[in-house]
Amino acid sequence: MLTRKHGVTIELWRGDITRLEVDAIVNAANNGLRGGGGVDGAIHRAAGPELLQACMLIGHCPTGDVRVTPGFKLPCRYVFHTVGPVWRGGDEGEGELLASCYRRSLDTAAEKGVKSLAFSAISCGVYGYPVLSAMHIAWQQITDWLEAPPPHQLQRIVLVAYDDAVWQAGCRVMPGIS
Ligand code: APR
Repeated sequence: MLTRKHGVTIELWRGDITRLEVDAIVNAANNGLRGGGGVDGAIHRAAGPELLQACMLIGHCPTGDVRVTPGFKLPCRYVFHTVGPVWRGGDEGEGELLASCYRRSLDTAAEKGVKSLAFSAISCGVYGYPVLSAMHIAWQQITDWLEAPPPHQLQRIVLVAYDDAVWQAGCRVMPGIS
C-alpha cells in the first residue's frame, strides 16, 4: 500500500524489517543500546554480533534521539537506533519524544544521503504506546518533514507493520493509499 508526497513514495508494508532491501532501517532500541526483544532482538540476530559491539562503543542514546551503526549482515547499509518513549499515560511528553524519533531519523537519513528508509513501529510493542496515536504521529511527522526538508536524497519511506494492530492503524492514518 503506498502513496506519494513531494515526490517521495510512502509505503505501509507488512513483514519483517530485517528482510527489507533499503538503505537504512530504524530500530526501536533502548537507552543503553544493549539489544533486547521485539524488533531490536530481530535486528541484532540478523545483523550478527558485530552490531552489539558497535552499539557498545556508542554506549547510550537519549530518548527521542538517534545513533547510527552499519547494518553488518543485514541487507541495509545502516541501522538507525532510535529510542522511543515508554507510554506512561500521555502526560509525560511521550508524544513529543515519539515525534522527535521520526524527525531525527529523517534528518539522519538526509545527512547520510539515504535514498530508502524503513521505520519500525517505534514504542508500539513493549513500550506500550497506543498504536493508532503512534501511527498518527508517524504520518504527521513524515509529511510535515517532507513539506520543508533539508537537502536530501530520499525517494522511498516504508512504515513496517509486523503485527495486525500496526497494520490496521497504518491503513487508517495514511490517506490515499491504494
Ligand atoms: N520487524 C518489524 N517489526 C517488528 C519485528 C520485526 N522483525 N518484530 C517486532 N516488530 C514490531 C512489533 O510488532 C511492534 O509493533 O516492532 C514494534 C515495536 O515493538 P518493540 O520491538 O517491542 O519496540 P518498543 O515498543 O519501542 O520497545 C522497545 O523493546 O526490545 C526492546 O530493546 C528494546 O527495550 C527496548 C524496547
